[in-house]
Amino acid sequence: MSIRTRFLLSVVLLITSLVGMILLVIEKREVQTIFEEQKKKGVLIAANIIQENLEPFLFWDKEGVESNLNKRIDQKLIYVIFYGRRKEPFAANADIKKYFSIFQRSNLADDVQPGDFYFARRDFQPSDEVEPFEILEIEVPVFVEGARERWGSVKIGLSLKEMQEEIRKTRLVLLFIGGVGFLVGVLGAIFLARRITKPIKKLVEATMRISRGDFSQQIQLDSHDEIGELAQSFNKMTKELLEARQKMEIAQKKLIQAEKLASIGRMSASIAHEIRNPLTSVKLNIQKVEESPHLDEFEREHLALSEEGIRQIEKFVKELLNFARVTELNLEKFSLPQILEESVKILSDSLTKKKIHFQKKIASSLPLVKVDGDKIRQVFLNILRNAIEAVEEGGEISVKMAPYLSQGVKMIKIEICDNGCGIEDKNLETIFEPFFTTKSFGFGLGLANARKIIEQHGGMIKVRSQKDKGACFEILIPVGERK
Ligand SMILES: Nc1ncnc2c1ncn2[C@@H]1O[C@H](COP(=O)(O)OP(=O)(O)OP(=O)(O)O)[C@@H](O)[C@H]1O
Ligand SMILES: [Mg+2]
Repeated sequence: MSIRTRFLLSVVLLITSLVGMILLVIEKREVQTIFEEQKKKGVLIAANIIQENLEPFLFWDKEGVESNLNKRIDQKLIYVIFYGRRKEPFAANADIKKYFSIFQRSNLADDVQPGDFYFARRDFQPSDEVEPFEILEIEVPVFVEGARERWGSVKIGLSLKEMQEEIRKTRLVLLFIGGVGFLVGVLGAIFLARRITKPIKKLVEATMRISRGDFSQQIQLDSHDEIGELAQSFNKMTKELLEARQKMEIAQKKLIQAEKLASIGRMSASIAHEIRNPLTSVKLNIQKVEESPHLDEFEREHLALSEEGIRQIEKFVKELLNFARVTELNLEKFSLPQILEESVKILSDSLTKKKIHFQKKIASSLPLVKVDGDKIRQVFLNILRNAIEAVEEGGEISVKMAPYLSQGVKMIKIEICDNGCGIEDKNLETIFEPFFTTKSFGFGLGLANARKIIEQHGGMIKVRSQKDKGACFEILIPVGERK
């Protein structure tokens, strides 16, 4: 059974018993009040009848009294009986005399005082054709001024039909009020149950989505109660889980990357070694053949081509070994603008050859940075070379250097941008992978090497680019000591 159903059931049960109990109490009191009123009314009627008949009664004028009484009898006042001093029936309306049980008996005690009275409820059936109904019987003593003993008494029988009708109506009204109260209560309970269970339902749904691995869930609740708090801690938990998962994914990626680099490194190193020795002997042999005086022009040309090929292979092997070698950083304090200056100088020929507009914007008073100068130069060279290769003749390359604060860590941000051919979206991730190249003459090691070096320095390298619009490489290098 759901919480909502259980809540509703218990509230309905509670309301029913509460409304029931309250109605019962009210009904009892109402009935009591109505009856008391009826009694008072009866005593008043009796007093009235005594007043009306006092004179004939004092003179024992039975006919006088009875003719008065017969006139008075109606649907409400069923009978009136006068009793004498010894409680004997003296006069009564005509119809009642045949009901001996009522007529003969006076119910008053001997020692009654003025104001005392007797009352009883009894069933009465005036004839066989009529259903019996309830009457209220009231007997009041008659006292005469000056006399110490009572003169007699008057007993009246009042029909309770009207009173019962009134009670029935009162009960109906109470029942209606109870019904409305019950309905309002149940509707309120349904509304409340919905308010309470809706956020719980939301929580359950979110938990299920989390269990399926969707951590992006945030529960929007505007309640400030315990459930609101629960939702808040739930949101905090999912946020932390998401962060933890993201951290784990990054760590995993790094680990895989490192593994990959290490195995590529090992493989490259062994390939390079295998190639090196035979290559040297091929080179020596070619040189020996070249020394021969019998060679014609055609043979010399082809030997030169072979030598060029060997130079290319040697360059690749050198690059490969350079990439594969894991060396300790040789850290010293360097000025990054100066390293940049040296790199640009090395590339000045290529820059002028392609008529490239080179611009730099270096922030003043940049701190010295503890880096391996040779390696950072390699990074600048690799990226600048790529930029030179990417731009058309007369293209633009710009370098910006400025201090940067990343999560409280002081860094230097270097941006190297060009307006060259740009990088296709699908290649943005892969350009840092070893051996990825789109160039016929490239080895695909420049950026892989750059990333390796920057990460070794505790920094990071990113690229943003749009095809045909150019590329921007952003490097962050921490200023301080690394652990
Ligand atoms: N500035 C740039 N503009 C456009 N594409 C670039 C840029 N820099 C790098 N790339 C793309 O990234 C690829 C990888 O670059 P990377 O420097 O690693 O290798 P490469 O330049 O191809 O060869 P090499 O090992 O000789 O540097 C390039 O082949 C090129 O497609
Ligand atoms: Mg390159």
